[in-house]
Amino acid sequence: TQPLRLGIAGLGTVGVGVIRMVQRHGEMLATRAGRPISISAVSARNRDKDRGVDLSGYAWEDNAADLAARDDVDLVVELIGGIEGSARETVEAAIAHGKDVVTANKALLAIHGHDLATKAEAAGLALRFEAAVAGGIPCVKALTEGLAGNKIERVMGVMNGTCNYILTRMESAGLPYETVFAEANDLGYLEADPTLDVGGIDAGHKLALLAAAAFGIRVDFDAVRLEGIERVTIDDITHAADMGFAIKLLGVAQLTGRGLDMRMSPCLVPLASPLGQLHGATNMVVFEGDAVGQIVLRGAGAGEGPTASAVMGDIVDIARGLRLPVFGVPADQLRAETRANTGAP
Ligand code: NDP
Ligand code: HSE
Repeated sequence: TQPLRLGIAGLGTVGVGVIRMVQRHGEMLATRAGRPISISAVSARNRDKDRGVDLSGYAWEDNAADLAARDDVDLVVELIGGIEGSARETVEAAIAHGKDVVTANKALLAIHGHDLATKAEAAGLALRFEAAVAGGIPCVKALTEGLAGNKIERVMGVMNGTCNYILTRMESAGLPYETVFAEANDLGYLEADPTLDVGGIDAGHKLALLAAAAFGIRVDFDAVRLEGIERVTIDDITHAADMGFAIKLLGVAQLTGRGLDMRMSPCLVPLASPLGQLHGATNMVVFEGDAVGQIVLRGAGAGEGPTASAVMGDIVDIARGLRLPVFGVPADQLRAETRANTGAP
């Protein structure tokens, strides 16, 4: 059987996690995928950095986009991050060279997702992004496959592990913002630019991606009304707790009579509710479908293992030959939905 040969761009928290998974679970993955999954080549900025994994069997590319041109790479895994630059060039190059793509890059897809999906589908390629939304929770797959028989009425949830970690550590341990922020950094949760996390932008990217898959619309990040957690103080958290509430960075997307309404902002939720009980870097994603009712998915939203888990789920699907429309509906049939709201919350 022909192996599925990976080129991995980016060897940080997630890239290393994916390599560890291939090295540890090679046999199990081959059985599940129906063929071996191997790594041919890798790329990052610093070739000399010790990453705690053995890279000696893999070729090295200084320029990540060059992974796409290699004859021994079938699938490019983009784990660099960022909207422009290397990440976008690598994904574009992969599609241009007829290679399937798996990415964890919500920022890239929230802005260029429609264009990239159009190009990938026109070339008959897979472009998968499960890890981009809610880390280890297989919510994109749940939406585009398991819930395909439903008219989705609402999508909501807590989608940024860093913010939930910071808010709950401040609440439960009474620790100052700076201390818990440093902890989140040590745990590998933060984006390269952490203002994306605490500013609510990262969670907004994820909500825009889920809304596209839920409602059959084009990704429209600009339509998300955003407010981050930077202005939430320890006093806010204490006063909310005194009244029986927790503060969560909560996202909601729904189609209203006036069009699509998407908002991501700090909200009060009852402390005793499942959302109120969501601690650490855990995420919770809620779907409401006309046939199924409410589905709640809960799990680790960030970090090496959970994110590698989601990336690998996509890789195994591609190894099995699955090539679904990127957002569940062919890109040329996605609607440009009217925005119910624009401007600040
Ligand atoms: P890191 O910052 O840990 O790693 C980024 C990697 O990209 C580094 O290895 C870096 O190289 C490499 N890199 C940077 N610029 C270039 C370039 N120009 N060419 C080649 N390689 C480059 O990021 P993460 O692993 O945390 O995140 C990767 C992606 O996964 C991002 O899109 C992020 O949003 C997403 N994600 C992350 C999650 C997490 O919990 N960390 C969860 C879900 C998604 P070097 O090491 O040499 O500096
Ligand atoms: N920085 C992101 C978070 C990583 O904290 O949720 C997972 O997408």
